[in-house]
Amino acid sequence: MNARGAKLLASSRAAELRSGAKLPPLSHGGGLGRGLPAPERYLPDAYWEDRARRFAARGSGLAAVCSYGMPEVYNRMIHSSQRRALEPWLHVKPGDRVLDVGCGVGRWSSMLAARGALVTGMDLSPTMINEASRRAETKGVASRCRFLVQDLAMLDAGETFELVLAVTVLQHILDPGALRAAVDRMAAHLAPGGRMVLLEAAPLELASRCDTTVFRARQRSEYLDLSSRAGLELRASGGVDPAPFKTWLLPHLRRMPRPVATFATALVTLLSAPIDIVFGRRAVHRSWHAVIVLERTRGA
Ligand SMILES: C[S@@+](CC[C@H](N)C(=O)[O-])C[C@H]1O[C@@H](n2cnc3c(N)ncnc32)[C@H](O)[C@@H]1O
Repeated sequence: MNARGAKLLASSRAAELRSGAKLPPLSHGGGLGRGLPAPERYLPDAYWEDRARRFAARGSGLAAVCSYGMPEVYNRMIHSSQRRALEPWLHVKPGDRVLDVGCGVGRWSSMLAARGALVTGMDLSPTMINEASRRAETKGVASRCRFLVQDLAMLDAGETFELVLAVTVLQHILDPGALRAAVDRMAAHLAPGGRMVLLEAAPLELASRCDTTVFRARQRSEYLDLSSRAGLELRASGGVDPAPFKTWLLPHLRRMPRPVATFATALVTLLSAPIDIVFGRRAVHRSWHAVIVLERTRGA
């Protein structure tokens, strides 16, 4: 980690967490990988730090950022479907500056740095950031990465970027004011001609029955309204996971015993995979998650 990241790591919030502030019970992040109980009260920094401490260093680290109640193969399937959906928008030229907000263990940061981009990854959780930094080192891309501990609602990376990326981050910012501030701060970090790429749970129709204490299934139009307020316009959108089975299952998961929920989630994922692989990107309207590609229409 660079000097700036290290300084931010010492922020009072991080210190509070390190000092053993009470963490919520083990839970999951919502979205595709559900099946375990969410905490009654969501304290974002404590929740994500807890997840990171438990899972970020294990194996691929996907359990920290996808679902920790499910086997590794499940998380790898989620990762593949997200990667397939994002791939058309992740072309970077060597030297392009990329900001990966809510970077988690840095799976996209390292990938883009390996393609030659100069990547800034930022996250609320100090342990996620440590892990992203360690993984970038292991992959030999640390010289093209820097990592910062920050809250997205107050993002200040000190420069602008050709690509600003958020993968399943905004869906975990529940407070409307913080969400608005996050989108504004991301937009303010776009370089002229740059693009912002979001992958979030964003169904076309309102699906609040799928919400949990850590996750909001916002309607796609809400992200578009917020982006438009921030001076961004939609350039393209893509689907991720149009198979309908999991949307049928999601509202019932929290009432199921854990083994049943895990089995049902795995089954639904297996059934969905062929549909999502074949139609994923194109079936934009039916997709539960969406890739939203935005560009600036007016000055920051
Ligand atoms: C579901 S994980 C996704 C991580 C990463 N984008 C990926 O795709 O692997 C959500 C991440 O967002 C981070 N996060 C949540 N709220 C945040 C906030 N207000 N500011 C910065 N990061 C935040 C969490 O710490 C976590 O690492």
